[in-house]
Amino acid sequence: MNRAAAEQLDVNDPLRAMRERFELPESVVYLDGNSLGALPRRVVDAVARTVKDDWGAGLVRSWNGADWIGLPSRVGALIAPLIGAQPDQVIACDSTTINIHKLVSAATQLRPGRDVFVCERTNFPSDSYAVHRIAATYGATVLEADADDMLDVIEQAGSRLAVVELTHVHYKTGRMHDMRAVTDTTHRHGGLTVWDLAHSAGAVPVELDACGADFALGCGYKFLNGGPGAPAFAYVADRHLANVENVLPGWMGHAQPFDFTHTYTAAPDIRRMLTGTPYVLSMVALEAALLDWADVDINAVRAKSIALSELFIDLVAELDHHGFGLASPRNAALRGSQVSLTHPEGYAIMQALIDRGVIGDFRAPDILRFGLTPLYTRFVDVWDACDALGDVMRDQTWNDERYQTRKAVT
Ligand SMILES: Cc1ncc(COP(=O)(O)O)c(C=O)c1O
Repeated sequence: MNRAAAEQLDVNDPLRAMRERFELPESVVYLDGNSLGALPRRVVDAVARTVKDDWGAGLVRSWNGADWIGLPSRVGALIAPLIGAQPDQVIACDSTTINIHKLVSAATQLRPGRDVFVCERTNFPSDSYAVHRIAATYGATVLEADADDMLDVIEQAGSRLAVVELTHVHYKTGRMHDMRAVTDTTHRHGGLTVWDLAHSAGAVPVELDACGADFALGCGYKFLNGGPGAPAFAYVADRHLANVENVLPGWMGHAQPFDFTHTYTAAPDIRRMLTGTPYVLSMVALEAALLDWADVDINAVRAKSIALSELFIDLVAELDHHGFGLASPRNAALRGSQVSLTHPEGYAIMQALIDRGVIGDFRAPDILRFGLTPLYTRFVDVWDACDALGDVMRDQTWNDERYQTRKAVT
């Protein structure tokens, strides 16, 4: 495909108007929305208003006046439709990592006497650390499966199975698990599922309720565009809520925080998953970013995401002789909203690309990640990125010394 054909795909794109809602530098091809989403224009005003009016003039009165206290529930309710949940099953709070600890602990407490956890061998480090730590605390064993033998390993755990903790879309490869199949198999053996949706929420359609999922969490700063360090979210299926314990109880999860009682009584609803004071400024940013999703059909997002990734993979195939491998599944049905390539010089190649204004990222040992965010990624961006990749390889730009030293964030 030539560049003009890519431009024509943008002309016909039903989501093309969405890009106008984002601040994006002209000179940049941004393919890292799977790490940090672009800045939605309305966030700029929302945060400025909160700082100047609500904090500056309203001061402490804004907890009531601007309903800061309601932010975790309000933001959770905005996330809910994107993950196939009811508004009162989702709350925004803490970081993804902290919510992994909270929800895996909560699930474990609901399965006393069972002592096997299942997770993926190449899970995101936080997921892995949390599962191993909680398993050690309960004297349980962790079975680590590869994506392909996940269902077999769950079967193997049998009646000892307590919790299956999985990242729905893998952070390195973008491979997506079959949520329904994993959940059904887990339930058949009496276990519970905890899904990490960090690379799913806003990226692919997710149906937590319809799949019968038990718990889920995810982050606000990737495909949801909530900004650096945006709060995460937690989902608890209705049927578990009354029995769920928060391993980090705090006053914000209390039924009556402003009674300041000495003994802890958990809130009757999803607010029991709260611990401390909400991060108001970042919550306000995330809330504003989520308002942009109100009129977006996630199925249209998925259709464009697949078209973008197919184009990317086809164009990279023409660069095969430079030694790239495809780390993402070739089958679009198994792929989230990213394309990952392997190359032994992946870090230097990515640095050279970034210097040319094509921004993706690198994950050790050899993965170049390109996130496709259909709200603002254009087909022509994919074309330009692959063109730049071809140049960097042909001219061996990556071989320059300044691209060899790893920075703190890759
Ligand atoms: C799949 C997955 N889980 C967990 C995390 C950790 O998130 P946080 O640093 O917000 O706790 C990340 C971060 O990128 C992630 O990709």
